[in-house]
Amino acid sequence: MKILVTGGLGFIGSHLVTRLLQEGHWVICLDNGYTGRQLNVQAHLDNPAFQLIWHDVADPLPPALAEAGIQQIYHLACPASPPHYQADPIRTIRTSLWGTYHLLQLAQKTGARFLLASTSEVYGDPQVHPQPEDYWGHVNPIGPRACYDESKRLAETLTFDWQRQYQTEIRVARIFNTYGPAMREDDGRVVSNFIVQALRGDPLTVYGDGSQTRSFCYISDLVEGLIRLMNSPYPGPFNLGNPEEFTILELAQQVLALTGSPSPIVYRPLPTDDPRQRQPDIGKARALLGWEPRIPLQVGLQQTIPYFRQRLGLD
Ligand SMILES: NC(=O)c1ccc[n+]([C@@H]2O[C@H](COP(=O)([O-])OP(=O)(O)OC[C@H]3O[C@@H](n4cnc5c(N)ncnc54)[C@H](O)[C@@H]3O)[C@@H](O)[C@H]2O)c1
Repeated sequence: MKILVTGGLGFIGSHLVTRLLQEGHWVICLDNGYTGRQLNVQAHLDNPAFQLIWHDVADPLPPALAEAGIQQIYHLACPASPPHYQADPIRTIRTSLWGTYHLLQLAQKTGARFLLASTSEVYGDPQVHPQPEDYWGHVNPIGPRACYDESKRLAETLTFDWQRQYQTEIRVARIFNTYGPAMREDDGRVVSNFIVQALRGDPLTVYGDGSQTRSFCYISDLVEGLIRLMNSPYPGPFNLGNPEEFTILELAQQVLALTGSPSPIVYRPLPTDDPRQRQPDIGKARALLGWEPRIPLQVGLQQTIPYFRQRLGLD
């Protein structure tokens, strides 16, 4: 099958590209390199089944894509970590909205199935816990996270309207915190922050008192969920994440134990609109996709720490 992955140079996208190539598909990766790196797909550059197109999804797509025989589109292109999506919020909104618009147009033209990588951030600072897919969320529409949260919400709206108006085949994944190798050292999300700080011997920065909770999904589990969703008969939305919940302080302690780092923990004020709790209800994905995460946090961290050691030149 010929498959387009936007954002294929990024953390999740590059793992997805690798898995799809391993399964024998032809893969086109479309990316502008904003937060992704060619290094993440270096191993595939000589593979005739792989094609890399440098392009900004906020701009109209190269017309040749409509003739490329694409059957599935995984649309992941969008900066995902707060420091990156907040650095240029208007660009984030353009990417999320116009990118989704252009890729849906392509899906309509080609008859390809379209999967949107949405996010748990559509639930905002949730007042329902854990969050099922039919919870409408609690998002501040004018805060510093809104460029991402609200534009992903509108990308979901656009996707479902495209299905209603043009009968385009759509799939929507609401991805919860995911971690693993290929994340950037300066990604800015908590797992990579803690590992990098611990390996460098710097203090681990905990925002607030560390009692806020998150759930962390290992990358291979997430990729499996995306592929199952794409190939299922259900549009979604589906929560994809690991329901095992940890406090940020517990995560910090696990990272310190697994890296053997002497780093202290320091506390800083909680950022604006930081959610207190985040845990997916994955009952729907379990029942309809037969999917659930398999990699426990400790195992995932053990597989991620050596990657960061190498990136930091510590091996
Ligand atoms: N990682 C997570 O925990 C998580 C959680 C929820 C949702 N998601 C979603 O999954 C997707 C991938 O996230 P990630 O963690 O791999 O992030 P990432 O930043 O590593 O990857 C995003 C990729 O998109 C590319 N990109 C950004 N703007 C672009 C543009 N305008 N045109 C073309 N390419 C562009 C970047 O260069 C990068 O390769 C995103 O849509 C994100 O919103 C991720």
